[in-house]
Amino acid sequence: MALKFPIFMDSQSTTPADPRVVEAMIPYFTEKFGHPASRNHSFGWEAETAVDRAREQIAKVIGARDPKEVIFTSGGTESINLAVKGVAEMYREKGNHIVTTAIEQRASLDVCKRLERHGYEVTYIPVRPDGLVDLETLRQAITDKTILISIMLANNEIGTIQDIAAIGRLAKEKGIILHADATQAVGKIPVDVEAMGIDLLSCTAHLMYGPKGVGALYVRRKGPRVRIAPMIDGGGHERGMRSGTLPVPLIVGFGRAAEIAKAEMAAEGERLGKLRDRLQDMILSSVEEAFLNGRPDRRLPHNLNISFAYVEGESVLMGLNKETALSSGSACTSSTLEPSYVIAALGASAELAHSEVEHVGARTIEVVKRLRDMSPLYELAKEGVDLKSIRWKAE
Ligand SMILES: Cc1ncc(COP(=O)(O)O)c(C=O)c1O
Repeated sequence: MALKFPIFMDSQSTTPADPRVVEAMIPYFTEKFGHPASRNHSFGWEAETAVDRAREQIAKVIGARDPKEVIFTSGGTESINLAVKGVAEMYREKGNHIVTTAIEQRASLDVCKRLERHGYEVTYIPVRPDGLVDLETLRQAITDKTILISIMLANNEIGTIQDIAAIGRLAKEKGIILHADATQAVGKIPVDVEAMGIDLLSCTAHLMYGPKGVGALYVRRKGPRVRIAPMIDGGGHERGMRSGTLPVPLIVGFGRAAEIAKAEMAAEGERLGKLRDRLQDMILSSVEEAFLNGRPDRRLPHNLNISFAYVEGESVLMGLNKETALSSGSACTSSTLEPSYVIAALGASAELAHSEVEHVGARTIEVVKRLRDMSPLYELAKEGVDLKSIRWKAE
């Protein structure tokens, strides 16, 4: 089967909607257009039933006991804002300290920065070189004013999966609310808010083959009952936590995506893991001074993040971007790999995914080698010059 270009390998930025998801959504744009809060007629009831079904489907994929614990938002960013600002406002009397990590996604970091400007204190704990939170460091960061620990479950660049259950146990022991940004994890790896001791969880549909513009915040109702102040006031929808007419078609799509992910996650993870490992082996065995970032045994199955010494990440991507969609992290070259199961559902064969990986691997190797041939830094390093000893500028 012929390869189709460009090949999408940037599924930690977004994913296409699964055709089965789109199919489920369509009737809710047209004939089933009711407002889920219209209590007096069948159009409203029909929409409400659809929303409730989606709430259940999402509750199941995150292990929530009660679908009522799922609050719909516009996406991961809003869920994080609602969780962190909502707790900060609601528990202000109890304390003003939040603990998070240095590797959170921008939404979490920027919310914390804003709260700092409003009198809150935030500790950004460093992570270990493999991207994991050190529990002792976390324990030491907690004070008697700490009201929230907010940590991402899986990182969006290096894919490292935190030991969130251990963090959950520590939070419980200290009586502190735990928020997990599980945006990259839900639908990709098993997530269970009960087993993991998570009190608030943010997720988004567009990273699990659902539509863009819809997400959810899980808010624990029991053991403990977590309360959050709303960010959007209005008609009191979503039990007063998030007002605004619910986007029923998007919610239906999100629910269907969650249902599909729950059913197919295990097989899909195994398939993607094998493809990722093949790409990783190809590159690491052919390019010297290429380094794997993150933690090989605790990362998302579709994630691959490699740094190439002596060449700029952006140049590598520029050399590849006509035929491949990859992305680079801030300080190093990062590439995420995920031949989508949607493409497979469209009838593409397993061979196609393999050919894509072979192609991307071969081209990456070629581009890095070409850039290395032009790199004065690489030449110096090969001659045995210690690059750290070089003074680059007259002082
Ligand atoms: C870890 C993480 N958190 C939050 C978000 C934001 O989610 P959304 O794009 O739905 O606002 C993303 C988006 O990629 C993410 O990767």
